[in-house]
Amino acid sequence: MRTDFWRDDSFLNRLHSFLKEKGALTVQRIVPIKKNVYEVFDGNQWWIVKCYHRKMSRLWSLFSYLDDESNFIISYPFPNGKRWIEDQKQQIWCMYPYVEGESLSYKNDKDRKSAIHLLQDFHHESKGIVIHQTKPISYLTKLEERQKRFSRTKNIFFQHNALFLYQNIMKYTEELWTPIKKLKWTELEKRAKRKKYIIHGDSASHNFIKNNTGVFLIDFDLIQNAPYEYEWIQLAQRFLYDGVDDWDELLSYPVFQFYVQNPYFYYGLKFPSDLFREWLHFLKRNPSNQEISQYIKKFKRHWHKRQKFYDKTPNYDKISNNNPKRGERFR
Ligand SMILES: Nc1ncnc2c1ncn2[C@@H]1O[C@H](COP(=O)(O)OP(=O)(O)O)[C@@H](O)[C@H]1O
Ligand SMILES: [Mg+2]
Repeated sequence: MRTDFWRDDSFLNRLHSFLKEKGALTVQRIVPIKKNVYEVFDGNQWWIVKCYHRKMSRLWSLFSYLDDESNFIISYPFPNGKRWIEDQKQQIWCMYPYVEGESLSYKNDKDRKSAIHLLQDFHHESKGIVIHQTKPISYLTKLEERQKRFSRTKNIFFQHNALFLYQNIMKYTEELWTPIKKLKWTELEKRAKRKKYIIHGDSASHNFIKNNTGVFLIDFDLIQNAPYEYEWIQLAQRFLYDGVDDWDELLSYPVFQFYVQNPYFYYGLKFPSDLFREWLHFLKRNPSNQEISQYIKKFKRHWHKRQKFYDKTPNYDKISNNNPKRGERFR
């Protein structure tokens, strides 16, 4: 099967009819962005329509709670009043106001600050929602699973003469398990649930859109009741990946200065889960050998940079207070 069927006219025509029939949305133009996301023009304004593989009940809990005048882009009912429509494959489609603008870039300080502020607002506004997750996986298990999946790719490093890189990362992460496993991750998670904390869960720069009226947050697919530490670990790692070079620069943001004293944040940040995630994600796309070689070069650069960052933390290595209450002040 062709992998880019979603760009074909026949598919777009069917989408056109489906939106009309099920949502009463008259579409004049459709521009595919990716397999599950399309820009559509209804003759008056642009919208985004997005497809989900299952009912996203967590989104409805969130959207009914948030203010639609805010900078959080929540779904909008189809012209026939339906909040979502279902296709023949039981996929769910929703429509969102289109926000003109461009993604944030974590290469610059101003955008990094905008992301922090908007996420803090989001935490504040969404606190109190309960998300039903049938089988929540603990953070510790996620880290373990990610490392296990990474270890299964050893052969790829071997084939590309990069076994040293692999061994280096594995040795580093193996040593981290001791302090990480001493922490009470499940307690921290239970507390977040009890307090009804919500995190966005996907703070990638392209989930923020900036224009001359402000900065907007999209893509709430990964929201969950979880400790705020997890949001800030992810954001800090994304900053490190894209632009931030050292601790001083990272700690110039008050939220990180505060959280660095929190062992969950600190050890979570020290575990290179983002590098594992990107690598595993890349391999899912069935890359060619040449693409793998290129990626490994990039991987090496990022790992060396990260190692330098991780090495230079002697003052914080003695953190012993593992009380989950720390980190409260900064949402
Ligand atoms: N409301 C919107 N306005 C403008 N562009 C959007 C909007 N929603 C999504 N996009 C664009 O589509 C891309 C993918 O949408 P997103 O909801 O983030 O899907 P995914 O879950 O696949 O990441 C975004 O990175 C952005 O470029
Ligand atoms: Mg996204």
